[in-house]
Amino acid sequence: MSSSLLESVVPEGRTLPVFPYAALGVIELAGSPGVTARKLAEAAKLDGALASRVLEMANSAYFYSGRFPIQTVERACVQLGLSRLVDVLTTTTIERFFRAFVSVKREIRGLFWRRAVTTAIACRMLCEKESERLGTLGYALGLLENVGQLVLMQFRPEETRRVRSAVEAGAPLLESEHEVYGFDHTSVSAELFRTWGFPEELIQAADTHHDKDGSTLAHAGELAECYAACYLLRTPIPTYASWTLATPVPDDFVRDGDFDRDMQALLHRALEQLRIRA
Ligand SMILES: [Fe+2]
Repeated sequence: MSSSLLESVVPEGRTLPVFPYAALGVIELAGSPGVTARKLAEAAKLDGALASRVLEMANSAYFYSGRFPIQTVERACVQLGLSRLVDVLTTTTIERFFRAFVSVKREIRGLFWRRAVTTAIACRMLCEKESERLGTLGYALGLLENVGQLVLMQFRPEETRRVRSAVEAGAPLLESEHEVYGFDHTSVSAELFRTWGFPEELIQAADTHHDKDGSTLAHAGELAECYAACYLLRTPIPTYASWTLATPVPDDFVRDGDFDRDMQALLHRALEQLRIRA
């Protein structure tokens, strides 16, 4: 898929919200084998708001019980540890990015954000069974694998309404997207990842996160999306938003059952599937 895809999505005279520079550095580093908390501290220092957030988190009672406050970003990063640091850095910067999609209704953006964070947490849990490095990539994938949907809502509202009507009438989301736009949200997400210079592993995972034969990372991305759908369908989200969920919730997961038990069972099932594919 070429960058002409994005050119065809974004009308002339309009531009995509700028992806935060600091988040790019973090995601790039998170995918490299020798990453350390100290290296990530360099990326965090590029963004004042981000550096303050890292200091605030590291000094919170949950992470620190020392007598003297932590005053440097480097020490704060080491205190938080690699996994937590990637979570804080990517979540803080990407939340700001999501808010820039101003043509999308606030409630929908809110839903997207909650779904993204839930997917990211679940994706990390699945991927870190293989390695810490895959766990950090999984977190970034979960946060952003559906960003293509936001872009389509922002720039192609009329077609998005048609997709929504088709899904609400019972058609699967991906098929409806193909029918209306000529492609689906996975291609748009992957193209954005490519434009932002993400690691190839993440680009491929975004592109194939609803394919049957994707990588372990891609498969974890879809399972995590399913986990997030189960979660969101049990919260009082507006019913108009449920059409955005691409992955059908398994039939045996009843919506009024025990949430924690079902989540455990879903996670267990996901881990079994990943073991087979790993
Ligand atoms: Fe998706």
